[in-house]
Amino acid sequence: MRLFIALELPFPIQEALLQQMNSWKEQGVKGRFCPRQNLHLTLAFLGEQSQEDCNKIEAIIKNVPFPIFELSLTQVGFFGALCYGKIECDPLKNYVLTLRQHLKEAGIAFDSKPFRPHITLIRQAQVPNKMHLSLSPMQFEAKCCTLFLSHLTSNGPIYTSLYQKDPQVPPTL
Ligand code: 2AM
Repeated sequence: MRLFIALELPFPIQEALLQQMNSWKEQGVKGRFCPRQNLHLTLAFLGEQSQEDCNKIEAIIKNVPFPIFELSLTQVGFFGALCYGKIECDPLKNYVLTLRQHLKEAGIAFDSKPFRPHITLIRQAQVPNKMHLSLSPMQFEAKCCTLFLSHLTSNGPIYTSLYQKDPQVPPTL
């Protein structure tokens, strides 16, 4: 099974991103726009894993403390023709380092490219000449950390949640 760990986005943020992408479409931007239900922030891409390792991965997500993060989405960026929303949040980087360290110690393979927090918006994006893509800045809290199953189809990937961990609210004094 093809797996990845990602933060889910609150519904109003998904909606705001969808509206933003629709407005770009109307202005002539072309490409494979990410459907609302597929918008997420990947923390670790695990690729093909066995059922046994899937259970280990769930246990790791369960055991690594997942605090509440305030995420900022401020700019649009590009990896080649992939258009994304750039996420800023230093504590998130520490969480991802810890998560990946636990995966490594458990012998779980994952894509070890450095973490560049982003939300993929458009694949194979084609932007009209001189058009500058920008976003209304958004701040939000991650909804939950989820282990997703990714099923690739000719109509695009279908993501199914296998396990979810909610952020831990700090105790009030
Ligand atoms: P992307 O959106 O920047 O392509 C499911 O494929 C998720 O895992 C996507 O968010 C994708 O990021 C991410 N991902 C990270 N590394 C990947 C890899 N090596 N292959 C496929 N997806 C990867």
